Amino acid sequence: MTVRILQFGTTGQLGRELSAQAKDFDVEITALSRAEADFADPAAVVARLKAAQADLVVLAAAYTAVDQAERERDLAFRVNAETPGAIAEALGAGGPALVQISTDYVFDGEKGGAYVETDTPAPLSVYGASKLEGERRILAACPRALVLRASWVVSSHGKNFVKTMLRLAGEGKPLKVVADQFGRPTSARDLARFILSQAERLAAARAGEPVFGLHHFANAGEVSWKGFAEGIFDMALGANAPPVGASATADWPAPAKRPLRATLDTAKLEHTFGVTPRPWREAVADIVSELQSEAKTELGSAA
Ligand SMILES: NC(=O)c1ccc[n+]([C@@H]2O[C@H](COP(=O)([O-])OP(=O)(O)OC[C@H]3O[C@@H](n4cnc5c(N)ncnc54)[C@H](OP(=O)(O)O)[C@@H]3O)[C@@H](O)[C@H]2O)c1
Repeated sequence: MTVRILQFGTTGQLGRELSAQAKDFDVEITALSRAEADFADPAAVVARLKAAQADLVVLAAAYTAVDQAERERDLAFRVNAETPGAIAEALGAGGPALVQISTDYVFDGEKGGAYVETDTPAPLSVYGASKLEGERRILAACPRALVLRASWVVSSHGKNFVKTMLRLAGEGKPLKVVADQFGRPTSARDLARFILSQAERLAAARAGEPVFGLHHFANAGEVSWKGFAEGIFDMALGANAPPVGASATADWPAPAKRPLRATLDTAKLEHTFGVTPRPWREAVADIVSELQSEAKTELGSAA
């Protein structure tokens, strides 16, 4: 059965990967951009939803500017909580199944170990609070919703840590990276492929089946931002990798507070779906080689 997917959000890391990876799965995606469905306007988004024919709805649109959210609380809550909640209410129990992405930032990082889905959230930032409220509204209104919490999402597009580190290394200045924040990187491609691989199962599953509800998804392996930077340089630059100095979160004052160790435990997802996310080094090696081949193509076309 070809699964008809209605995807909100086209230009972000996950949105691009969903559309790009769809060719490998038996799915047909209709993807709506912000211009076609602005999450700042819940009623307009619900109208688009009702006009579409879909078996599965995937939300790849979100307010993700973590620091800016401290100044734009209302907008962050409208985009991350009110509109996802309105979508879930419109779908209810009888409509297509729903997939939403949430974040490790729903936790305060104080647990002292990896977080499971039943741990109590305690967000430190407006962004984290808005995503948590989105989770709650979705799970309360739509019994056929899968909420996937991800962390440290990276890809070869958009703004993310892998691209920022490679740009900084290219500038040749001494580098210091935060060594006291830990987490699990998530490849947007691996996340997209996981969702697409489960599309048929989700579209067919009934309310109450274990595929719905909260699950954590992240690539395997906990690392600090500093260790992550070193891994990226090792893959991209080998013997020419620059040294990476250690800094502390406290050295980089930012409007939004980040959790120091909100590492996600993915055992529930592995058990429910029979899928094991691969190590982050493998996933990031793919991103690095993609960026390198894009750079070669650009150099080739400029010559
Ligand atoms: N990035 C991370 O490190 C991270 C970590 C944990 C969880 N997550 C979650 O993972 C999901 C995917 O993240 P991502 O990294 O793919 O995000 P992203 O690259 O920042 O993309 C966000 C997407 O949302 C769209 N968007 C923003 N405001 C919108 C609005 N008012 N109406 C409609 N669309 C809007 C953006 O469109 P425009 O191009 O028009 O702005 C863009 O397509 C999100 O739910 C995020 O909260 C991300």
